[in-house]
Amino acid sequence: MYHAAIAGTGRAVPPTILTNAELEKIVDTSDEWIRTRTGIRERRKAGEGDVLSDYAVEASRQALEAGGLVPKDLDTILVATVTPDQPIPAMACLIQNKLGAKKAAAWDHNAGCSGWLYGLHVADALIQAGKAHNVLLIGAEFLTRLADYTDRATCILFGDGAGATLLKATRSDHGVLATTIRTDGAGASFICMPGAGSVYPPNRPETYEQRLGFIKMMGGETFKVAVRSMTDVCKQVLDESGFAASDVTWLLPHQANDRIITAVGDRLGIPSERCIVNIERYGNTSSATIPIALDEYVREGKIKKGDLILFTAFGAGLTWGAGLVRW
Ligand code: UT7
Repeated sequence: MYHAAIAGTGRAVPPTILTNAELEKIVDTSDEWIRTRTGIRERRKAGEGDVLSDYAVEASRQALEAGGLVPKDLDTILVATVTPDQPIPAMACLIQNKLGAKKAAAWDHNAGCSGWLYGLHVADALIQAGKAHNVLLIGAEFLTRLADYTDRATCILFGDGAGATLLKATRSDHGVLATTIRTDGAGASFICMPGAGSVYPPNRPETYEQRLGFIKMMGGETFKVAVRSMTDVCKQVLDESGFAASDVTWLLPHQANDRIITAVGDRLGIPSERCIVNIERYGNTSSATIPIALDEYVREGKIKKGDLILFTAFGAGLTWGAGLVRW
């Protein structure tokens, strides 16, 4: 039976860096607080005229080239995003057109910061079912566009960027070994943006007046559930595939807070030198954190053939998940 293997990766981030020192001038915060509470030193910020789908296309071209395919080889494009270019149509359709991937069905999904992992689960299932062979999975966000720069508790966290992953059908012992995804909608208010949907449409005055078109988060509550939930699902995928944490070469978690990453690593017994962390340079780019970090480690030659990579993410929904991949 076929399953999915990661055949190529790519990333594109805006050149403009927003440092903690610059945020000190915007909100009542300090570089010291941000670094010690989150691990973030700087993040990327899209320019006024920048369009997210252009960044996603650049990351996708790199992933296709690395994987030896051209856009017309794609049968599926999955885009994980909470910040598409526009609500309708899906950003995946815009990307499909810009790439010229005429044979690919393309759609977006919103699983918050777990979006890339949800996409990995779906792509692997489609490939196993024989419904897809060459899937482009993108995580792309312009989170600074939805960050409230009057709210110091959230605006310091977010950054912009896009990562792409090419998944190919394989019968080899490489690729996706196990995935699991979970949801708890009872925690919907932990991380949310109440406005710009159908309850508070963008064209109603209260959406603007009550600042409903910005991301809101209950940070402390989210932190605790995130650590517990990601640890649980990591253990599940390891158990299901017959591996122990000591077999894992790299833990690649969603980059929301380096204290969360350390806590998950500690609970699993995976030391920090085997945890992939780049939050200090990009902040939280939601669904893009994992594919961006993956691409960095692949291109730097740190990830090698045969490595066992444990992915995990947690985000708005609440959503979370884990995946185990043999490189
Ligand atoms: O990506 C999706 C999933 N997201 C997450 O997993 C995020 C999880 N949460 C977190 O990463 C952390 O909860 C935060 C980084 C968001 C906040 O860190 P915290 O240690 O939980 O801080 P806190 O919210 O408990 O606030 C502690 C103090 C408060 O002051 P008082 O009440 O103790 O006087 C806040 O007002 O820190 C204050 N504070 C700040 N101070 C300086 C909050 N934000 C800031 C800030 N600068 N930017």
